[in-house]
This record gives sequence, structure tokens and C-alpha cells, in this order.
Amino acid sequence: MRKKVIAGNWKMNMLPNEAISFIEGLSNKVENAKAEVILCVPYTDLFYSLLTAQNTKIKIGAQNMHWEENGAYTGEVSGAMLKSIGVEYVIIGHSERRQYFAETDETVNKKVKAAFKHELKPIVCVGETLEQREAGKAEEIITTQTSLALEGLTKLEVENTIIAYEPIWAIGTGKTATSEDANNSIKQIRNKIKQLYGEEVAQKVIIQYGGSVKASNSKELFETSDIDGALVGGASLKLEEFEKIVSSAGKPC
Ligand code: 13P
Repeated sequence: MRKKVIAGNWKMNMLPNEAISFIEGLSNKVENAKAEVILCVPYTDLFYSLLTAQNTKIKIGAQNMHWEENGAYTGEVSGAMLKSIGVEYVIIGHSERRQYFAETDETVNKKVKAAFKHELKPIVCVGETLEQREAGKAEEIITTQTSLALEGLTKLEVENTIIAYEPIWAIGTGKTATSEDANNSIKQIRNKIKQLYGEEVAQKVIIQYGGSVKASNSKELFETSDIDGALVGGASLKLEEFEKIVSSAGKPC
């Protein structure tokens, strides 16, 4: 059975002192959680967060990376750099990066490959706009984004990729996809992975839902057949709310 993975995406929020007290506060509360807990923090918080999260259950991730190892790319941070300080996860292809920073399926794929090269686990975001959903194109969009993101990876790498299905119309809007709709879209993604990499790989891949996840809707989402956790934006900035989301994914046995 797949485990649940709950990741917070802090986006461009939280100063280092805020990150430290959040992680200190959260670590005791999630010590016995059944789910895996990840916080994807801004670059400037990474080092402090890694130190504070040492010997706790909380894993630390970045929110983006460049595909090259080094070079003349002003303002960018490479996978080699993230790995060098102990980062374990990295979000790739978030819709905000696709929308505001011109990321494409091609750059997403380059970043995913570079993440594996540096032994970072990618959390790859896919999702359709409201327009695409209303035009009946959601399945085509999310399965195409998935196959292009994973192109050229080995089966083992695909198994170790976390996919976050984040319908764009549900991000930061308060509108969550119904658990049934989210589960259906995630099944479509899993089915695509099955076509490309086989049943065994498809059954192992963690596929999260993201988009206005809160403590009040997380349990229902996690009770579905195919939703393996959440990528949480706004609610991951509130300690108690985030802790509740983590515990709704299961109490320790
Ligand atoms: P919200 O939870 O704020 O809707 O954000 C979702 C998201 O973009 C997580 O990556």
C-alpha cells in the first residue's frame, strides 16, 4: 500500500526566524505521524530549516531548481547546490512557475532529470485551467504534462517521482476539487503511467492532490482510492491547520 505524503509549499512566504519557530513547533506534533511530512521552503530558509529539522520527521524541500549544474545563470540555483546542503525534495513545474516564469513541459523534463542526477526527489506539478476543464480537455492536458515531464526516465526514477495534481482553478481560490473529481483525475494520471511504464510502477507512484486543501477537507480527500496525500499552499503556513492535515492522513498504528 502506498504511504501518504503531505508536503507544504510555503511559496514566497516565511522569513528564517519564522521558519525555525514553525519547524520547532511542528516537529513534536508530527513525530508519530503515519504520513511523510515535507516542507518546501524558500531558498533563504533552506539552511535554517534543514538544521532545525535535523533528527525530526520533517523533510525539507526546495520550490524550484535549474537543470544545469553551474554556469552563467544569474539568480538561479542548481540541483548540485541543493544537494550539497542536504535538501531531499524539490518541487518542479508548479503552475505559478509555468504561468509567471515561462516554464514549459520541456524545461520541466530537464529539471526532473537533473533532480535525479543529484539524488533529489522531484515533486512534479501538473494541472489544467478552468477553461481547459470546461472544454473537456482536462484529461488530455494532465496526462500529456505527466508523460512529457517523465520522458526519458527509468522505471525506478518514475517510481520515485511524486506527482502533484493541482488544478489551477483550485489554487489559492478556496475552491477545492470534489474528492471524487480529484480522485478521477489522479486515476487518469496513474493510468497514463501504467500505459507508459507498466502496472507495477503505476501502483507505486505517489500522486498528491493540491488546491485549497485545508483541515476541513483533507480527510475526505485522503479516504479516496488514489489520492496519496497533498501539496498544501496557504494552509501550510498555519501550524495548527497544517498539523491537522497531517494527522488526517492517519494516526500511527
Ligand atoms: P493553496 O493550497 O493555497 O490553494 O495552494 C496550492 C498550491 O499551489 C500548492 O503547491
